[in-house]
Amino acid sequence: MEGFVKVAEEKELSTRRATRVVVEGIDIALFLVDADVYAVQNDCPHQHFSKLHEGVLNGCEITCPMHGWTFDLRSGKATIGSGKLKLCTVKISNGSVWIEKPKAGTGWN
Ligand code: FES
Repeated sequence: MEGFVKVAEEKELSTRRATRVVVEGIDIALFLVDADVYAVQNDCPHQHFSKLHEGVLNGCEITCPMHGWTFDLRSGKATIGSGKLKLCTVKISNGSVWIEKPKAGTGWN
């Protein structure tokens, strides 16, 4: 799958906790919500703590455990606080989770 890197097996993911992976030196948090997988750069726009993987998930919203800023995993946009998470494109193939590699110099969306 050109331009993508395999990061996990779908069966390894849990709806109760995020999975943290590192891709090309970038910290990524994977979230399983119902049957959908979301991947975001594990970097809160508030004070740039990499703690989103330890946040509280409520539907498609993740709340950063540091100061409570909350983000919609579908858009990356803040619903409490401000700013936007960097989203990674996710593909599932034969039970494996793949995410798009960051683009040189720009990262993800
Ligand atoms: S670092 Fe995430 S809310 Fe402050």
